[in-house]
Amino acid sequence: MSVGLRLLCFCIFLLKNVKTDRIGVEFQPFPVLKNDNLLRAARGEVVDRVPVWVMRQAGRYLPEFQELRKLHDFFTVCRTPELACEVTMQPLRRFDLDASIIFSDILVIPQALGLTVEMHAGVGPVLPQPIVVPEDLKRLTPDGALSRLSYVGDAITMMRHKLEGRVPLIGFTGAPWTLMGYMIEGGGSKTMSKAKAWLNEHPEDSKLFLNLLTDAIVDYLEMQVKAGAQMLQVFESSAEHLSKEQFLQWGVPYLKRIRDELVDRLTKKAIPVVPMTLFAKGAGHSLKEQSELGYDVIGLDWTVDPLEARTLVGPNITLQGNLDPQDMYRDPDELRNLTTEMVHKFGKSRYIANLGHGITPQTPITSMEVLVEAVHKAL
Ligand SMILES: *[C@@H]1O[C@H](CO)[C@@H](O)[C@H](O)[C@H]1NC(C)=O
Ligand SMILES: *[C@@H]1O[C@H](CO)[C@@H](O)[C@H](O)[C@H]1NC(C)=O
Repeated sequence: MSVGLRLLCFCIFLLKNVKTDRIGVEFQPFPVLKNDNLLRAARGEVVDRVPVWVMRQAGRYLPEFQELRKLHDFFTVCRTPELACEVTMQPLRRFDLDASIIFSDILVIPQALGLTVEMHAGVGPVLPQPIVVPEDLKRLTPDGALSRLSYVGDAITMMRHKLEGRVPLIGFTGAPWTLMGYMIEGGGSKTMSKAKAWLNEHPEDSKLFLNLLTDAIVDYLEMQVKAGAQMLQVFESSAEHLSKEQFLQWGVPYLKRIRDELVDRLTKKAIPVVPMTLFAKGAGHSLKEQSELGYDVIGLDWTVDPLEARTLVGPNITLQGNLDPQDMYRDPDELRNLTTEMVHKFGKSRYIANLGHGITPQTPITSMEVLVEAVHKAL
């Protein structure tokens, strides 16, 4: 190579790497973010357009996802950064989304704590050796759990580069009560009756369990931010099984501790705090209480009325949601109208459009196109 050419390459290298955002400067040079509407909405700043993304946007409704899954087991995809990134990228190739969310699963924490988790086709996650009695908590291995989750950080860092700054990358975790539920039930459950029995029969051990999970979650989220996650979502998907009183006792204190301790840790290390979303499905009864936990964004399921939610959380919280995933099966005109109506109710300020729960596997691809376009055109 001639000297001139080498110099040119070096200059291009410099230009590519000098343009970094704040976190990039701290840790590694990431490409500059081009569409930051999601982060602006989360912070209550003016947006160019209402940002939209969809829970489980990388998932089974996409034929290319199904193809990849034929070749690789579910948790192999999670554990292999190249595969996790490929799947994370798939919906962005098709739709004009305003966010990506790293492909993973909430049950990677129970795995890192020493439990076996298998994904059974048509059934969902199965934990063959669940936590049955308080004595079983001794089987959990919190020491070293974080290092066993390093593949998630690797996938996040790789994804930030692959995104080339197109949209922000969201990291996530399951919340303590939701993880405790799976770990006791040995998988999903229509009632969570064994886990709820624990709360009544072993209240002290339940607190120990939830605190152990909370500690692991704070470590995990800190690691995700260091790896490059630009926003975080905490999924309390099983809040729907708790009464309001139970949610306030067994959900809220731990959700608050996650937010407070993460902010504290990041601040002490001079790492910029990223916006955080709390999505407690089925906890529309406690929106005011949720709004007082320090989260920037509250996710809503479809049972909550947007205007009532706004009244309850006040003006300084961003709302996310909340179209019924079932509406994605309506004909395009109806879906377009429902989406437009929803966006009009929430308004352009402090709003992130999404479904009220994960997109379901049979959803037609065209519905995603209609949804995304209708959100962007509504206001
Ligand atoms: C919302 O934030 C503004 C600006 O920081 C503040 O003046 C106001 O009191 C807050 N409102 C509520 C209800 O917290
Ligand atoms: C959708 O909204 C338009 C305009 O308001 C209306 O003319 C049309 O009938 C609606 N379509 C459906 C299927 O609801």
